[in-house]
Amino acid sequence: VEALLEQLGGGRGCGHGPVSNQPFRDMPSLPPNGPPCYGFYSQILDNCGQGPVGAGRSMKDILDRLETRREEARLGGGKARIEAQHKRGKLTARERIELLLDKGSFEELDMFVEHRSNDFGMEKTKVPGDGVVTGWGTVNGRTVYLFSKDFTVFGGSLSETHAGKITKVQDMAMKARAPIIGLFDAGGARIQEGVAALGGYGEVFKRNVIASGVIPQISVIMGPCAGGDVYSPAMTDFIFMVRDTSYMFVTGPDVVKTVTNEVVTAEELGGASIHTTKSGVADGAFENDVECLLQMRRLIDFLPSNNESGVPDWPTQDPDDRIDESLDTLIPDNPNKPYDIKELIHKVADEGDFFEIASAYAKNIVTGFGRLSGRTVGFVANQPMVLAGVLDSDASRKAARFVRFCDAFNIPIVTFVDVPGFLPGTAQEYNGLIKHGAKLLFAYSQATVPLVTVITRKAFGGAYDVMASKHVGGDLNYAWPTAQIAVMGAKGAVEIIFRADIGDKDKIAARTKEYEDRFLSPFVAAERGYIDDVIMPHSTRRRLARALAMLKNKHVEMPSRKHDNLPV
Ligand code: HXC
Repeated sequence: VEALLEQLGGGRGCGHGPVSNQPFRDMPSLPPNGPPCYGFYSQILDNCGQGPVGAGRSMKDILDRLETRREEARLGGGKARIEAQHKRGKLTARERIELLLDKGSFEELDMFVEHRSNDFGMEKTKVPGDGVVTGWGTVNGRTVYLFSKDFTVFGGSLSETHAGKITKVQDMAMKARAPIIGLFDAGGARIQEGVAALGGYGEVFKRNVIASGVIPQISVIMGPCAGGDVYSPAMTDFIFMVRDTSYMFVTGPDVVKTVTNEVVTAEELGGASIHTTKSGVADGAFENDVECLLQMRRLIDFLPSNNESGVPDWPTQDPDDRIDESLDTLIPDNPNKPYDIKELIHKVADEGDFFEIASAYAKNIVTGFGRLSGRTVGFVANQPMVLAGVLDSDASRKAARFVRFCDAFNIPIVTFVDVPGFLPGTAQEYNGLIKHGAKLLFAYSQATVPLVTVITRKAFGGAYDVMASKHVGGDLNYAWPTAQIAVMGAKGAVEIIFRADIGDKDKIAARTKEYEDRFLSPFVAAERGYIDDVIMPHSTRRRLARALAMLKNKHVEMPSRKHDNLPV
């Protein structure tokens, strides 16, 4: 390096004068039209406050200085704030990265970036890294990009330069077609920067949208998050939270009190208990940072790197033709008795491994990732244990979004159907059930990925059509012998079509039996080819694995258009 600097001019004769001890940010800029000015670069390299190389400074001094600057950057907002972070039960931005990525795989970018604000005394409070740690690394050998907000630096708030660091990794992730993960612990736009911060968020948001459906985007909420730090996650594919330490709100409780006079705790306003159950904003919550990050590694293993890469292929010891006799007795004798559809998912998926999405929200439908023959599939299943598996607004929205994610990323979908219909009543109608229910219908009808459906018991009314029926694009539609496919259940049907006989118990009983025999079986649908085969429950895994292998190269062309107009 010393020889190179000598050769390049060593700071002499370039018109910039001798190397000084000025801070780097005050250095003159390159002359716009001047000749190559190598001395300028040597001036920069020398500007570590120890004088030029060859003027008493050794190589070791230079390397030590770099290490010192790195250590300063790694300290973020300082020891006291790191301790406060730990006391709240939270890890630091860098500790989180260590846990998320494969050991030693993290390559940090822009560690020395500082904000450029001079308002409100900000020029005196520059912290290298500016409140966000960015870079890339691997998760079980697969490349991911990430940014991790550092709450110890201005509460992780976003400045213009902080935004620049995030948009840089967003752009890099898009070029490399690799997933991007945001670890959020931040209070939104940096108040001292005003519109520069708002503009920075706009740049991040725009990239969130452009990347949507191209690379998986995952947001992990690990502290109090407000403003842009909840809007950007809202436009990503998945949001996960940490219980009791993370919150999501447009503005925090203090501002809420000032504006509306409402007194509310952070947990009541936007804790994991709210967003995973009531609002459905978050797709899951975990006990602490460590569990959360380890589960994110597990999730990434299920996801393709991008919309063209195809699903990852993991080795499995679980034979495709594994028979499970216990499935033959999963459906109770009494058609109104519930059973747990998750048992079926666990029993057919490779090694019983199932990563559930939104497990605590709209529990009447189950969504999540598993694998068959080592390859990822999305499972969607009505859950008879909750509201008899009925479809309501929340369940429709939840499943629609999941189906659209799978379709965007070429993940085949396996649908298990046991649904008594859509939930009737004013509460649902006022809430827009028509539009929400249509979202799921739209999502399945639009999907071009392999769709394999198994009706285990009820498939009644419009919900039969919606749940990946043959009519909306199901590739292989199976039914168990226990399936009942009809416009509605026997009691409701008989009361409508034989209303005149309603006073005559015997007649009604006979009509009900007639209806059950005729319609409450899979065979009327099978006779029409709407059901491709009636299968033995114990061989469900084998049939699904074979179906998906056959459909591996499925290709469907949709008509050219700018985009569809999803009911919202
Ligand atoms: C600058 C901020 C900040 C912000 C927090 N800090 N938020 N600095 N800009 N937005 C700083 C605090 O001054 C403090 O600095 C440190 O971060 C920790 O903050 P505390 O308030 O002490 O922490 P806590 O009590 O845990 O509360 C966290 C919080 C709260 C809930 C996030 O700070 C808060 O409500 N912040 C404002 C949220 C907000 O309204 N942001 C603007 C949103 S508008 P010291 O030096 O004391 O450690 C927005 C627009 C985007 O984002 C566009 C959307 C479409």
